[in-house]
Amino acid sequence: LGNKLWGGRFSGSTDPIMEMLNASISYDQRLAEVDIQGSMAYAKALEKSGILSKMELEKILGGLDKISEEWSKGVFGVIQTDEDIHTANERRLKELIGDVAGKLHTGRSRNDQVVTDLKLFMKNSLSIISTHLLRLIETLVERAAIEIDVILPGYTHLQKAQPIRWSQFLLSHAVALTRDSERLGEVKRRINLDFASISLNSMDAVSERDFVVEFLSAATLLMIHLSKMAEDLIIYSTSEFGFLTLSDAYSTGSSLMPQKKNPDSLELIRSKAGRVFGRLAAILMVLKGLPSTYNKDLQEDKEAVFDVIDTLNAVLQVATGVISTLQINKESMERALSPEMLATDLAHYLVRKGMPFRQAHVASGKAVQLAETKGITVNHLSLEEMQNISPLFGSDVAQVFSVLSSVEQYTAAGGTAKSSVSAQIEQLRELLKRL
Ligand code: ARG
Repeated sequence: LGNKLWGGRFSGSTDPIMEMLNASISYDQRLAEVDIQGSMAYAKALEKSGILSKMELEKILGGLDKISEEWSKGVFGVIQTDEDIHTANERRLKELIGDVAGKLHTGRSRNDQVVTDLKLFMKNSLSIISTHLLRLIETLVERAAIEIDVILPGYTHLQKAQPIRWSQFLLSHAVALTRDSERLGEVKRRINLDFASISLNSMDAVSERDFVVEFLSAATLLMIHLSKMAEDLIIYSTSEFGFLTLSDAYSTGSSLMPQKKNPDSLELIRSKAGRVFGRLAAILMVLKGLPSTYNKDLQEDKEAVFDVIDTLNAVLQVATGVISTLQINKESMERALSPEMLATDLAHYLVRKGMPFRQAHVASGKAVQLAETKGITVNHLSLEEMQNISPLFGSDVAQVFSVLSSVEQYTAAGGTAKSSVSAQIEQLRELLKRL
């Protein structure tokens, strides 16, 4: 007990299993560097207020420097009684500079240290995550620019809907990710704010973990988006669709079936969304109903934050790798574009001839049904058959059955016409400069 920071009022020893449960050093040593930075700033403040002399400050800063060096060289020796990173650094400081080390803790608690450390650590980590996320968005956007002429079926309910550009699909995911990038930026800005000005209330400062919840929430939504993209790509990579092939670098084989090439990278991305949300749910449960100020429950926040940081960093880099190396199969995409997918265009044709859309929808549906009963595709109905459905059909109806002209109709902002997709690309490139 003599070694414990809080040992003074204790005479009995801690149960060894309790000691294990209590200790956080195995994971919170990741805070070593920021813990030292925080202590350095605190020591300077103590000197300003007259609690440390200039000489004592020099000694403490020198000792902290040395400890920082030990951590970075990987030679810091953690010992059994080091309960957490704050305990470990202070114990070492005393070994290095003697009793003056004990003055550093004047007026502060580990509870103050841990929240400061975590915020500093997250600030740095968020910058790295943001860089990886921007790389992914950029990869989607640049791939969309290169493959702008590729057309494939768009799906709703996983049923063929209307033809779209492959780029429109890629950009739909890029756009969602820009919102995630903005949200992560907001989390970082709020953590920063707390350093630009001091917290308004000490009881709130020491116990609020809003920034943890905000980060985990933003991370969860980001992962939800990635899981959706992963799922789309998994479906498109099946031999049934055959729209794309993942590079070997992001696939694995089956130990049993030699023919298999499994999209494990995408499946892992999809599953990690569950993992990240689990971390958010866990923290919300821990925080619920906690009484004011610090409670040891709060120690749970770190493993959640570290795990989500590591997960995001890995997942974002793998997603970028998958997107930049996958190969598309234009022929399969084109083959999948059945004439029925132009039924909406057929309705629009009648609209242009003056028919209200609701009626045009019925007429087009009838044409699809007739073709189906005849066992042919809708573009093979004769003009006479079409005119039996509506006299508004003329010989120019043949032009409707062009996938390219279908796609090119959608020139409104956000549409799938080449001009609209190009505009999206330009806007995203501009946005990327600001994110
Ligand atoms: N290891 C602790 C944590 O992660 C640091 C604060 C400990 N404070 C205390 N009063 N036991 O939250």
